[in-house]
Amino acid sequence: MKTDITFCALELNIDQKAIDVMLSEVRSVEQEHWYWDSFRGCSILPLINGNGTTGAPNGVSRANGNMTCTEASYKCSTTIEIIENKVFSFMDLRTRVSVLKTQANKGLNVHVDSGTKSLDTRQHKFRIVLSGEIDKLYFLDSNNQKQYVPNDYNCYVLDGTHPHSIDPGTEEKITICFGTPWTGNHTDAYYNLIKNSPYKIKYDKPMLLDEWIE
Ligand SMILES: [Fe+2]
Repeated sequence: MKTDITFCALELNIDQKAIDVMLSEVRSVEQEHWYWDSFRGCSILPLINGNGTTGAPNGVSRANGNMTCTEASYKCSTTIEIIENKVFSFMDLRTRVSVLKTQANKGLNVHVDSGTKSLDTRQHKFRIVLSGEIDKLYFLDSNNQKQYVPNDYNCYVLDGTHPHSIDPGTEEKITICFGTPWTGNHTDAYYNLIKNSPYKIKYDKPMLLDEWIE
């Protein structure tokens, strides 16, 4: 089965009511638990992280270590429960989980979600969009043209090695991001989600610029 995707919507049956609960939980977390990511240009709230640490993850082992709920997640019990039941169940491991917040009228810088060394490997990144316009997300194709995703799917995986960004939107954008160490590992459940995806697409990549890589 073809799993070589740039963007693939996953049908996880997380309804709008669940999205609304997660959104209000995340918004109730105090500002002190968020940190600023200058590379991407957004605020980040770590919900599950190596050894439960919060703040900018300097010196924290992202790839291994024991993925534990942070103190910032204590107001997000439904969110964590949905993650455990609907997301970790199709992955074969627990990942880091962070919430990214982009202000209204602010876009992101074009970037890839993986370091130089892993650009030739599979780097699927899973996302749940809680608020904001989904179709502001775009990938650069081989002609450096922006290719936008449809607005219809709030749960998706993207190829983190493919240059992408988010255009400014009229609303604040809040997304739950599942990162290292999961990269799209094979499980039957995950492959079935890709196979049954309501929307998937593959673009060729443009020439990579150094400034896109952290
Ligand atoms: Fe990204």
